[in-house]
Amino acid sequence: MKTLIVYRSYHRMNTQKIARAMAEATGATLVTVDEVRPGDLADYGLVGFGSGIYGGKHHADLFALVEDMPAAERAVFLFSTSAGEGPENHRALREALVAKGCRVAGEFACRGEFCILRFVTKNRGHPDETDLAAARTFARGLVAA
Ligand SMILES: Cc1cc2nc3c(=O)[nH]c(=O)nc-3n(C[C@H](O)[C@H](O)[C@H](O)COP(=O)(O)O)c2cc1C
Repeated sequence: MKTLIVYRSYHRMNTQKIARAMAEATGATLVTVDEVRPGDLADYGLVGFGSGIYGGKHHADLFALVEDMPAAERAVFLFSTSAGEGPENHRALREALVAKGCRVAGEFACRGEFCILRFVTKNRGHPDETDLAAARTFARGLVAA
């Protein structure tokens, strides 16, 4: 299946590591959200949207892309890195995608390193090799389905 992965990553480039692992494992086309136009998504059978979680949701640039993309029955997946381990902060983007007619085929989330109080690093080293392996397995499973 022709697959596109769109991501936004800026704090520690954590989500970029996950996006790259997924793309390498599946042969998907990988782009940052700045590199894609809403109309481009029509060329793909499966589109992944991922970023860090900032203030409880995905990056605003992903919401802007979803808002501008034409409504269509499209298979999508969501992914993120965040302070937590689970996809509990995916709700807003999931709802935006569903409102555009998309079918959510899967969701992936893992911990990502972040800095608080300038000098204190949490989740140090994440995503690690185990997280990357899980991302590869997740993406392969979706593309094969
Ligand atoms: C400004 C800011 C806000 C954040 N807000 C949250 C949050 O609400 N919930 C959470 O779990 N993690 C939060 N984090 C942690 C990031 O989601 C985490 O570090 C993520 O891996 C960053 O992804 P990136 O390196 O791809 O940008 C925040 C980080 C930053 C810098």
